[in-house]
Amino acid sequence: MLAPEMNKKLTETDTGTPGGTLMRRYWQPVALSDELSGNRPVVPVRIFGEDLVLFRDGEGTLGLIDRHCPHRQADLCYGRLEANGLRCPFHGWLFDAEGSCLDQPGELPENNRVRHFGQAAYPCVERNGMIFGYLGPCDPPPLPAIDSLVAPDSHVFAFKGFLECNYLQAVEVGIDPAHASFLHRYLQDEDTDDAYGRQFRGGTGDEDVPVTWIMRNFPAPTIDVQRTDFGLQIEARRHLSESRDHVRVTNLIFPNAIVIPMSKSMAITQWHVPVDDHNCYWYAHFTSYDAPVDKPRMREQRMELYRLPDYKPRVGRFNQWGYDPSEQEDETYTGMGMDINVHDQWAVESPGAITDRSRENLAGTDVAISRYRAMLLRSMDKAASTETNAELPLHRAEGSPAIGPEWHDSIMDSGCPRKEWLDGYRDRRDKAGW
Ligand code: FES
Ligand SMILES: [Fe+2]
Repeated sequence: MLAPEMNKKLTETDTGTPGGTLMRRYWQPVALSDELSGNRPVVPVRIFGEDLVLFRDGEGTLGLIDRHCPHRQADLCYGRLEANGLRCPFHGWLFDAEGSCLDQPGELPENNRVRHFGQAAYPCVERNGMIFGYLGPCDPPPLPAIDSLVAPDSHVFAFKGFLECNYLQAVEVGIDPAHASFLHRYLQDEDTDDAYGRQFRGGTGDEDVPVTWIMRNFPAPTIDVQRTDFGLQIEARRHLSESRDHVRVTNLIFPNAIVIPMSKSMAITQWHVPVDDHNCYWYAHFTSYDAPVDKPRMREQRMELYRLPDYKPRVGRFNQWGYDPSEQEDETYTGMGMDINVHDQWAVESPGAITDRSRENLAGTDVAISRYRAMLLRSMDKAASTETNAELPLHRAEGSPAIGPEWHDSIMDSGCPRKEWLDGYRDRRDKAGW
């Protein structure tokens, strides 16, 4: 159970809140490159309760500035896109990617000069189909050296989806290794050859034992959580027999991302980015460690659930997440279809927009969640008291080799040491060739 003021501190991210101050010190996904791929690359972005507009000007420069024009607050999402910025249709003021007003054509020459009205303007970088913004006060750090940002574009597919809940409950599902045995349980195993692009549907490691079979039959893992340069690493072991363990290793990348195995050769890096305190987007990189990703197939699979332009799911509270009691009897544990994204969506949305943590009772399998909250609280205090990023978690990993975080999912010798699955990861990473 968590005191209400503690829950508030952990979940709020608006300007000036402890969480908002901390999370703004990290690069955050703000859009997919796909969203800027049309004829007019201008999209609204709402993040940490701030309304912004993201655009790519005629010279290719990305701008992320206040959505409302500093003259009389008209909506710049309807702006005229020009070679060097975005022009407000109300009185023609022109703003560049740095938020400077370059032109006020309705003003007499003595008033029409370049100036800055103090509106927000944030740096952006684009990597592997995702655009990241930095909303912090000091110079941005480099992008973290994680596999999904180091891999070539051909090996990474990017996608996103909307969740009607606070970001914290979305991250907390991602670092809970026990729920997969229940929430994502399929009552029958399917052909593991048909698993491309779908999590928990393939075989495990080098053996073609369906992951669904393991999750269903061995529901109580032993969980070990370690602090790493990236955040937390969670090893979940399911003891299959005297001689065999199933070992699944997932990660928290501080402060709001996870890295989890998707199949034998693919991992998912997923950021949960606050839109405001009651909504968030997940942004995912699906990274292949062997062949290039089949992006059209990955997109087609995901478009079955999500619709454009806002990447909102076709199911939700409004239609009971597609719940079907007869399916729940015969096919799935949830009765909400075969797509695990829907199961997770129900798990994070059904408690309400902000989980009332004063009524929860954490159990042994929630060990990573407790560690994560403690790390967040400590780091919020640190972020409030330091002007630089150097002392915050993850930023300390700068300069370390561009590899990791390590993930793993296979059947191994019972009781094998950590080194063995680490070697398995390193072997996969070496063979990736990037
Ligand atoms: S409101 Fe934008 S130029 Fe006047
Ligand atoms: Fe899940």
